[in-house]
Amino acid sequence: MSFKSLLAATALAASMLSFPAIAAELTVGFSQIGSESGWRAAETTVSKSEAAKRKVNLKIADAQQKQENQIKAIRSFIAQNVDAIFLAPVVSTGWDSVLKEAKEAKIPVVLLDRDIDPSGKELYLTAVTSDSVHEGEVAGDWLAKTVGNKACSIVELQGTVGASVAANRKKGFDTAIAKHANLKVVRSQTGDFTRAKGKEVMESFIKAEGGGKNICAVYAHNDDMMVGAIQAMKEAGLKPGKDILTVSIDAVPDIFKAMTAGEANATVELTPNMAGPALDALIAYKDKKTTPPKWIQTESKLYTQTDDPQKQYDGKKGLGY
Ligand code: AHR
Repeated sequence: MSFKSLLAATALAASMLSFPAIAAELTVGFSQIGSESGWRAAETTVSKSEAAKRKVNLKIADAQQKQENQIKAIRSFIAQNVDAIFLAPVVSTGWDSVLKEAKEAKIPVVLLDRDIDPSGKELYLTAVTSDSVHEGEVAGDWLAKTVGNKACSIVELQGTVGASVAANRKKGFDTAIAKHANLKVVRSQTGDFTRAKGKEVMESFIKAEGGGKNICAVYAHNDDMMVGAIQAMKEAGLKPGKDILTVSIDAVPDIFKAMTAGEANATVELTPNMAGPALDALIAYKDKKTTPPKWIQTESKLYTQTDDPQKQYDGKKGLGY
């Protein structure tokens, strides 16, 4: 090696030693809930591609809807000494001990798409979520506007019991319709965010409500449950989207397909890209010691049949939804 190239190599090695952490060096453990819905599957796919774009090594642990599996995964990530932990918490309570362990190990935790009990705020770095109370309000306001002065009995398919988004989407919707005496939720039950349970619960609602004749609208906390409910309505000889109005949350391709067929009326979008903003916040925190805001809020946009659902479907199906 010439003296000149030796000098250059030495300078490069010295400069590398003084570099702050860069994204390529980061390993992030992601405790994902499972694959209960099309939206969830999309979030997993998008998380992998967002990590790859930033050269982050993302290790995903699928908890199959069980908090105990999430707790085990977090402990395993701590033992592996990962640089950060992403957590999509299936329910909002019961995280204190394990998140304290992560804090003691100096591993930052970022919440994705769901929140934990407010008492745990000091236990995580930031949360990338939508305003899920607002999502419920958007759904309720749309229904109130669409129904006008007509009396309307609503049935509600709730998300997973104990999940922050289920409680918040209920709260927001109830607040919005409380301003309208003609709107009333007559039945409300969990469908656990799945298509199969959404169908099953809707079948029982239809039976209990005069074969569906007393139902004016269905509000579902996600699109997958609504797709199941649409199937139940069709099998009962009802016309979803016409005899019974529908409004749900997520904006996955299957609901746009149903809208194109005139079988669904409205959805509120939840972006599956929670990992992109979370990784950017984490990289800035590691590289520049920038503390992110406690809440990084994603958008909640309403789509109806007037928004060219076929175009929305075509635009989203390639994203791995
Ligand atoms: O936490 C986000 C919710 O979880 C989505 O709206 C739903 O589809 C998923 O199961």
